[in-house]
Amino acid sequence: MSIALREGGIRDVEEMMITMDEAFDAAFGEAWTKPQCQGLMTLPGVWVTLATVDGEPAGFALNRVICDEAELLLLGVRPAYQGRGIGRALLERSRELARQQGAERLHLEVRHGNKALFLYQSAGFSEVGRRRGYYRGRDGQLFDALTLASSLLIDDRYTFHRK
Ligand SMILES: CC(C)(COP(=O)(O)OP(=O)(O)OC[C@H]1O[C@@H](n2cnc3c(N)ncnc32)[C@H](O)[C@@H]1OP(=O)(O)O)[C@@H](O)C(=O)NCCC(=O)NCCS
Repeated sequence: MSIALREGGIRDVEEMMITMDEAFDAAFGEAWTKPQCQGLMTLPGVWVTLATVDGEPAGFALNRVICDEAELLLLGVRPAYQGRGIGRALLERSRELARQQGAERLHLEVRHGNKALFLYQSAGFSEVGRRRGYYRGRDGQLFDALTLASSLLIDDRYTFHRK
């Protein structure tokens, strides 16, 4: 199995949508539509990292950097490729590229109860806030979003503080 990561942009939305449609359960309202992705990707500081396995689309991470703040907007891996370290590799690549662009913190939002929390917690993210009823699922049910953040600074003298 050969896993490859590459950076892309708006021309890669079709490839992103393959993962979007498979990875995100519509029951939770976390997925974005194609127009939402296209609109976002016209903004400065936004990029996508795409993962392939043996040349097949396997996942993506959608990111944004504004000044010294970075945001991981979406992270998804197609179910057939989950559990092989691709999600962690995409997250680490996001951290590295955000750091290279001068970001000092990486933020993200995740639905309360999402198994992705295991990944984020093991990667050093801390909960810094909660948005009640942020996600609206297919049947109208509302789910809280947790806001997580982690420092991107390697310097040990810097300590990330919870709000
Ligand atoms: C979250 C997601 C991206 C993880 O991708 P993945 O390629 O399966 O993740 P990895 O194989 O790199 O696993 C990384 C870690 O996540 C944790 N993890 C992943 N799935 C898990 C699960 N179902 N239960 C418990 N822990 C899990 C493990 O701790 C794993 O650590 P390990 O390397 O020590 O085993 C993937 O499950 C996904 O696409 N989910 C649906 C979309 C989504 O909810 N995205 C996040 C919100 S934006």
